[in-house]
Amino acid sequence: MPSLKHQVRFRMTDSVTPPASPANKPLWTRRRFLAAAAASTVLLPTGTAAYARYWEPFAYRVRELSMPIRDLPNSLQGKRLIQISDIHVGPIVDQNYLQSAFAHLHELRGDLLVVTGDFISYSERDQPWEKLLHLFTNLPEFPLGIYGITGNHDCGEDWQQPEIAHKLFDVMSETRLAFINNDVLDIEGLQLAGVCDLWTPMYDSRPVFEKLDLTRPKLALCHNPDVIDKKAWADYDGWMLSGHTHGGQCWFPGVGAPILSVKNKRYAQGEVISDSGKAKLYINPGLGYARPVRFLVPPEITIFTLTKDDALTA
Ligand SMILES: [Fe+2]
Repeated sequence: MPSLKHQVRFRMTDSVTPPASPANKPLWTRRRFLAAAAASTVLLPTGTAAYARYWEPFAYRVRELSMPIRDLPNSLQGKRLIQISDIHVGPIVDQNYLQSAFAHLHELRGDLLVVTGDFISYSERDQPWEKLLHLFTNLPEFPLGIYGITGNHDCGEDWQQPEIAHKLFDVMSETRLAFINNDVLDIEGLQLAGVCDLWTPMYDSRPVFEKLDLTRPKLALCHNPDVIDKKAWADYDGWMLSGHTHGGQCWFPGVGAPILSVKNKRYAQGEVISDSGKAKLYINPGLGYARPVRFLVPPEITIFTLTKDDALTA
């Protein structure tokens, strides 16, 4: 049995790390692991924050979907309807980004363009009109027209100023966009209904239902998807194109979107069947933003190909 002196010497000898040669150098030492852990603790959140602030708000996607409409007129079969929403022209959204997205519209071969509200983020000090005109006077031709409805932000900073919306109408009258203010238009046999935003004093769905024939092909434009749960809309059984939520702008695995500006939290983004089970919503996550941050909810240009279908929700 070795003496205590030998035991100690043995342990000391055993604990000494031999000089490392490139061949036997371990890949992960404790020191390296701790350094990497410390770096990732700092870099991962920093990288995620930088991505959410500087990349995703400007990384719009073009999403193509089909839109089956009961009794769609033959002349509209296969036509391409482009939806953009929540562009928020003004002091918050980068104008170069919007110009680049609008330039892309020239390549997307749309037949009809709809803008589902929040054209502007109104600011008395930095008025949006010139920037807005620049975008909309440089649009390509859309053979079936360009139509819009107002969102809450189009009624001023507190959403209670119809005079701002009327200024918007005046400015946009210099472009090819026509607003559908609580009204119904006919496009080659397709009824296109539009309502002003629910949170503003301009919302009024009565004129819409005085004109709308629910037995004929139809499509509604309505900024805030909560409208579909209103009593007046209970029998509406067509598509409704909306925006407003921006998809919450940030979505986290296991949590979802913590901030959603709707009463019915099912109406976050994308295709959703209404609570009535009759209507189909498409909630566009927006092209602009209310704050310059997005995470896993990229901005979007949506293209719908119109098709004839006898069972909307089948
Ligand atoms: Fe918005």
